[in-house]
Amino acid sequence: ADEPLVLGIETSCDETGVGIVRGHTLLADAIASSVDTHARFGGVVPEIASRAHLEAMVPTIDRALEQAGVAATDLDGIAVTAGPGLAGALLVGVSAAKAYAYALGKPLYGVNHLASHICVDQLEHGALPEPTMALLVSGGHSSLLLAPDITADVRPLGSTIDDAAGEAFDKVARVLNLGFPGGPVIDKYAKEGDPAAIAFPRGLTGPRDAPYDFSFSGLKTAVARWIEAKRNAGEEVPVAHVAASFQEAVTDVLTRKALRACRDEGVDHLMIGGGVAANSRLRAMAEERCADAGITLRVPRPKLCTDNGAMVAALGAEMVARNRAASAWDLPADSSLPV
Ligand code: KG4
Ligand code: ZN
Repeated sequence: ADEPLVLGIETSCDETGVGIVRGHTLLADAIASSVDTHARFGGVVPEIASRAHLEAMVPTIDRALEQAGVAATDLDGIAVTAGPGLAGALLVGVSAAKAYAYALGKPLYGVNHLASHICVDQLEHGALPEPTMALLVSGGHSSLLLAPDITADVRPLGSTIDDAAGEAFDKVARVLNLGFPGGPVIDKYAKEGDPAAIAFPRGLTGPRDAPYDFSFSGLKTAVARWIEAKRNAGEEVPVAHVAASFQEAVTDVLTRKALRACRDEGVDHLMIGGGVAANSRLRAMAEERCADAGITLRVPRPKLCTDNGAMVAALGAEMVARNRAASAWDLPADSSLPV
């Protein structure tokens, strides 16, 4: 067992995640979520999230250590999400990581949330090829990233200029009165609908548009207008068709741009991460298009795609394995930390 044993803490949004890995092996993945508390507000409320992290932190760390069956004293390091994310929420995780690392005499590794979303795939499919192209799609971000070195060199190629992909799912679900978070429900309804029923717009796909940027707010508005017109005409809204057609528009643009980035950069591995990577249509479409293009697709299982502590531990372990410098004790929580 000479692979690094690392505990990772994630508190960038509404999940208090604590994971433990040994190298590429997942030993524990404990999660406490405040999502139900936020549901009635239709989105994450930062103050509620911070307080929930504070209450869940120590019990979730204890649960992870118990699940993994390891002693805290055996850890080779403690990793924590330093950003980007909600400032107050990040601060709870960073403070906890510092306290544990300092008390135990272990090195502290502040890591980037987006890089962790990529690195988590090592727990599913083993060592990440370098370079890897990554499509990260969640409620907070939609980015195409080129990762020549997951611990030190992750380059943003493009991102959303307005809503994140998951945000679009959440907003469309709200218009359809399907609750929050919207992604899983839309995914479910879409299975009964026709993806070609309604021709919704594909944002930023014109010849003069930025090739790797995304825009989903026009799509969201188009869906809302379409639904409103139906309701005003006194007609029933075909929820399954709307869900399927909306989902098709999002996944079409995401996969098209990701494959183009692979082609342009000469990269033959694509990883898809973030909460929206759990989407069944996105997975199927990416599989089909990657197979056609001769690109190897890597998508972690859904539980590893959404925010969790294991992804932070995975990146921490990679940093230990590569002898990267530990963070200083004054490591800041940076809500807009760039990759
Ligand atoms: O990565 P994540 O857990 O949290 C961050 O936003 O960082 O992603 C949550 C987002 C939500 O917007 C949720 O609606 C979306 O991921 N999501 C999905 C699916 N499952 C979760 N979107 C589409 N299809 C899904 N099956
Ligand atoms: Zn995330």
